[in-house]
Parts: sequence; structure tokens; C-alpha cells
Amino acid sequence: MFASKLPNVGTTIFTRMSQLAAETGAINLSQGFPDFDGPLALREAVSRHVLEGRNQYCPMTGLPALRQQVAAKIARSYGVQRDADSEITITPGATEAIFCAVQALIHPGDEAIVLDPCYDSYEPSVELAGGRCVHVPLALPDFAVDWQRLAAAITPRTRLIFLNSPHNPSGALLSRADLDRLAALIRGHDIHIISDEVYEHLIFDGVQHASVLAHDELYARAFVVSSFGKTYHVTGWKTGYVVAPPALTAELRKIHQYVNFCGVTPLQHALADFMAVHPEHVEELPAFYQAKRDLFCELLAGSRFTFKPAPGTYFQLADYSAIRPELDDVAMAEWLTREHGVAAIPVSVFYRDPPADMRLVRFCFAKREDTLRQAAERLCRV
Ligand SMILES: Cc1ncc(COP(=O)(O)O)c(C=O)c1O
Repeated sequence: MFASKLPNVGTTIFTRMSQLAAETGAINLSQGFPDFDGPLALREAVSRHVLEGRNQYCPMTGLPALRQQVAAKIARSYGVQRDADSEITITPGATEAIFCAVQALIHPGDEAIVLDPCYDSYEPSVELAGGRCVHVPLALPDFAVDWQRLAAAITPRTRLIFLNSPHNPSGALLSRADLDRLAALIRGHDIHIISDEVYEHLIFDGVQHASVLAHDELYARAFVVSSFGKTYHVTGWKTGYVVAPPALTAELRKIHQYVNFCGVTPLQHALADFMAVHPEHVEELPAFYQAKRDLFCELLAGSRFTFKPAPGTYFQLADYSAIRPELDDVAMAEWLTREHGVAAIPVSVFYRDPPADMRLVRFCFAKREDTLRQAAERLCRV
């Protein structure tokens, strides 16, 4: 018998639901990706760089011009200077950045705290490093940090706490006061932070993102991860970055160079060109996605789902207790897909121990207006 290193990992719900959506012809609001393209200038830039021969390995740390654009974006967004050479590394997706950061931090026997519900790559990354995840549920209904439970979960073996704001799947945000509270909680402990901020620019209602990048005390012990895929509507490019103080960056790069060595060269050239010419893209993003959220919520108001508009991300949670309370959320997501032609993601899959009465599904609203209208029409008939 082959001894699996990840015996509990199977095909993820994201793959299963997207497959089911394809088989049944359902509108796919399950997996988180846009059904529209990234900016034309960005796509043209890739073609140009491919045709002009920028097709060989780039530096292991990422293209210098792109790292400089990331530093400029950080300075504009958060008013802090992060060094393009010693603190910023371009990676093939945020997922690889998270994986490498975990490998850098976790030794066998260490514990990492995850706040459930959480993104599915965290736990396998910790397990492959020989560590163990300690699951602390966020407090319902707003998916807020339960500070007492978090404090109680810290042990002498705790080496890492994962943060994710704006939060997938709930859209919840951490505030500056939350970051201060966390800094006070871990002061004097040998605990690091991986702050997954891939939705940093998808934040609504005029709220400013509280980035760990702008919190000096937390940043001193953090890896902050983001994704060009989310920000530029090109999730399939799997290009992201990680920002960390120089000593942590040096450790991460030791691992990154043997996992991938470097990201994809022409994509990095194109992103650097586009960011230099179109800094307004990032500033316009909150309004762009807020309009989609508002449209989807307005249309869904005529349904039997109940919900609060998401404060961030491109996901909207919806409670179906008034529709089929007897179904668990996995069964509900399948039923919605097969019987009503709209694919969604059950929220319980983001938990180790989901609350038994959880009746929430997640819809992705990173979709064209006609897709959202069609989907909502079907959901209003449920
Ligand atoms: C919370 C979170 N982190 C990380 C990622 C992965 O980003 P990337 O596609 O750049 O690897 C995702 C993608 O869905 C996500 O939702």
C-alpha cells in the first residue's frame, strides 16, 4: 500500500462543482473566477512580449520591473515603502507563495492556527511540512475573530497564524483594531503570520483595507501574499507575489527556487507594463466589483435566500434556511446545480468541523451583467 502523505485530501469541491456545472450546463457561480477577460492592453502586452522573444527564464525573485511596480502599488495603496529587491518576490500564484512561506516557517511538530472557514491550501501545506493545524472557528454570523478562542489556541508549539482579509468565503474584513489586537496577543511569542490578502483591492462601501503591510509590528513577522489573478481578472495566469521583511524573504526564496525557480516571464513583462501605464485600474476596482455585488444582491432580493451584502471579495454568501432547511449545504449546492441550473459552493467545506446547522452557499459574482441576471432569475424561482 502506498503511504499517502495527504491521506485526507481528495478532489476538491471546486473541481467537483465546476465539473457538475459543465455536465449539467448550469451557470457556474461556484469556483472563483471572472467570466470576462482582463484588460485588452494587458493581454496585448503578453502577445507582444511572447512575439518579441521574452520567453526564457527570468530572475528567480521575479522581473525587477514588476517588483518595482508592486512596490509602487504598495506605496500608493498603503503609504509604506517596501523594498523591491529584498522584500518582494514574484511567485506562480499566491498558492505557491503560501506553500513556500509555510515550508519556511513550519518544522515537524509545530502548530499553525487557521481560522475556519479557510482557504483549502493552508492545511495540506502545513501537513507536508510536518506540522499540524489547530482550527479556530470565526464567530458567526459575521465571521469575526473570536479572540478568546484564538488566545486559548496558542501553545508553546504555535509557530504560525493564518490571516485572510478580505475573507474567502464570507467577504469579512479585519480592521486596524483587529490587527492591533493580534499584535498584542502574539507579542513576545515566536509566532509568525501569513496574511493572505489576495482580495486586497476588492473591498466595498468606502472601507479601506487594513493591510498587514501597513502594520509595522505585525509586518516584522509576516509574509503578506497577493495575486495578480484577482486584481487584473486573469486568475489563469497564476501569478502572485509575497512581501516579507528581508530575512524572511531570504528564507522563502531558498524554497521558492526549488519549487518553481521563477514565474512565467512574458506574463511578468506584461503586468509590469500595464501597471506602469494604468495605476488607475486598482483604484477603480472597488467600484467595479461593488456594482456587481449591488446588482446581484438587488436581483436576489426577490428570492427566498437571505443574505447581507459582502463587505469584500467577489463572493456573496446566501442562507437557504427558508428554502430547503432539511438539506445540508453540499446537497443543496448539488440540488441547485442539477434542478435550478446555478452552481454554488457549500460553505461547510471550508471547515474542519462545520456547525451542524450551517445553511449557507457561496456565489461568485465576478461575472458579466447578463450572467448575473440569468443566474438571479433562476435563483428567484427556487
Ligand atoms: C483566499 C485565497 N487565497 C489564495 C488564492 C489563490 O490565488 P492564486 O490563484 O494566485 O494562487 C485564492 C484563490 O481562490 C483564494 O481565494
